[in-house]
Amino acid sequence: MKCSRLIVIVVLLAGGCVTESPKDILNDYEEVDATTVLDAPTSKPGTFSPQTRAIVARGEYLVEILACGSCHTDGALAGDPDFDRTLAGSKTGIAFTNPLGEERPGVIYPPNITPDKKTGIGDWTDTQIANAIRAGIGRHGSRRLVSMPWRGYAKISEDDVTAIVGYLRTIDSVRHQVPDEVQPGRIASYPFVYYGVYRSKP
Ligand code: HEC
Repeated sequence: MKCSRLIVIVVLLAGGCVTESPKDILNDYEEVDATTVLDAPTSKPGTFSPQTRAIVARGEYLVEILACGSCHTDGALAGDPDFDRTLAGSKTGIAFTNPLGEERPGVIYPPNITPDKKTGIGDWTDTQIANAIRAGIGRHGSRRLVSMPWRGYAKISEDDVTAIVGYLRTIDSVRHQVPDEVQPGRIASYPFVYYGVYRSKP
């Protein structure tokens, strides 16, 4: 009988330090409880028509239940969200290479998705935002949103994605720059977590 091990790991490397191999995942890492669902920031639909307000309210509801804030908010991945910066990006990153094989994984920091033009998505078109959410296509047109769970969002309807985009346009802009992506093998200066399901090879 074949026996395969399935390991789900969510750990935080304090201060981004990387220990020398061989690693002992039980001793070297600390398990953290990521914040799962954060209240979505209140939108400011202002003078919009009741119909538009209803669309924005639906977008707010969707962003909350789809847990966008659990990654796109500082501290949330480590269970300590900064409520003044909800959706304004995370300085805790997500490793996108396998912790069991890579001593220094590649790390991506969930970006600021508030309307700030410099550090957020204020200059993105509606289509670009919708493509990032449902198809994992980044601003350069390539499918490289490795740690963004777009596969789980691929079936969001046109109306719902329009509502999400509409809502994201109405929240406060927060200027907050997240760290650059770290390539595998390089040292990450900011902390990160591992997300993923790993199993032993047959
Ligand atoms: C599991 C963590 C996670 C969740 C949950 C998540 N995202 Fe992301 N998202 C990311 C990461 C990481 C990136 C950057 C990926 C990259 O550049 O390769 C990203 C990128 C994006 C981008 C592109 C922005 C940019 O500057 O590159 C948008 C827009 C976005 N996410 C919106 C959302 C929305 C809306 C939701 C909820 C429906 C959501 N995300 C949920 C992790 C997440």
